Amino acid sequence: MKPQGSRTTAFLPIYLESLIVDTVLDFDLFIRLGRDMALYRSRRLPFTEQTRLKLIDNRVQVLFVAAAARREYQQYIEGNLASIVQDPKIQENRKASIVYEASKALVKDVLANPGLGENIQRSKNMVSSQVSYILRGRQAFLNLMKISSYDYYTYTHSVNVCTFAVALANQLGMRDRKELWVLGLGALLHDVGKSRISERILNKSAPLNRAEFEIVKKHPVWGQEILKETDLIAEDSYFAVLQHHERVDGSGYPNGLPSDDIHPFGKIVAVCDVFDALTTRRVYQDAMNTYKAFREMYNERHRFDPAILEEFTRLMGPDGDVNSTPIEAENEEKAAV
Ligand SMILES: [Fe+2]
Ligand SMILES: [Fe+2]
Repeated sequence: MKPQGSRTTAFLPIYLESLIVDTVLDFDLFIRLGRDMALYRSRRLPFTEQTRLKLIDNRVQVLFVAAAARREYQQYIEGNLASIVQDPKIQENRKASIVYEASKALVKDVLANPGLGENIQRSKNMVSSQVSYILRGRQAFLNLMKISSYDYYTYTHSVNVCTFAVALANQLGMRDRKELWVLGLGALLHDVGKSRISERILNKSAPLNRAEFEIVKKHPVWGQEILKETDLIAEDSYFAVLQHHERVDGSGYPNGLPSDDIHPFGKIVAVCDVFDALTTRRVYQDAMNTYKAFREMYNERHRFDPAILEEFTRLMGPDGDVNSTPIEAENEEKAAV
């Protein structure tokens, strides 16, 4: 092994457990030697059980992929995510990290190019794995909560809202896997319309002026428009996109619908969306803890479906307090894709 002399910033840390035995990797694997990276295994060589055991023997849990090979690694993970989620050899909290990081990377791609059919197809596969992971039980949901981002970005927010929405719907009694998947996909893509809004407006620290708010209010309709053009998702997913800012007292947008006209997917995503926005750090606001966020939401409870808000409170319960546990950095560098 010969050190490459490259600085570690040009590399992405990845978990050993994200690599499936007997698959051919389309990217080189590196390990860290002091401050440098050393090539450990060349691309196109099968990743064998022997290689895996040798790394475990040497207590290597994190390997590295060149940042330039990010796309190949992401493709590899997306292609294998369904088996990673079911693999009994992989620790549950590690699965959560792999699913979360892969989802984040995917949503970044989607927001950069939301009209691309390939990105929507990738989102469908991703949500299928997310649903499978969340259905593993409450601990799986809590694992995802523990690693969820404390800082607000549209892509992390999208992943968080998808996780909340699927877990909440399941807790509300929705057991049909396909229905959860349709909801989850809408939740993951609920803010794609923001891809048409400038960063200047999205990240503005001062309150939005009237004209800016009018632009922001268009994102549910824009999101639906963008997705409809791809013609790849189920009709019901659109309710999450178009109606997540509707409020049951008729005070929401874009259509000011009354409760009876808001689909349950719109009502579920509305609660999850507000909660995530309150509990993550924004340019103009610190993150609230779960208790404060719920206090705020209950002050405005006339705007949410009461049964859904109540069930969400139960879901987040004392052990679901997203901000009560410091975010775990399993290694000093968090594995990323
Ligand atoms: Fe939104
Ligand atoms: Fe949102």
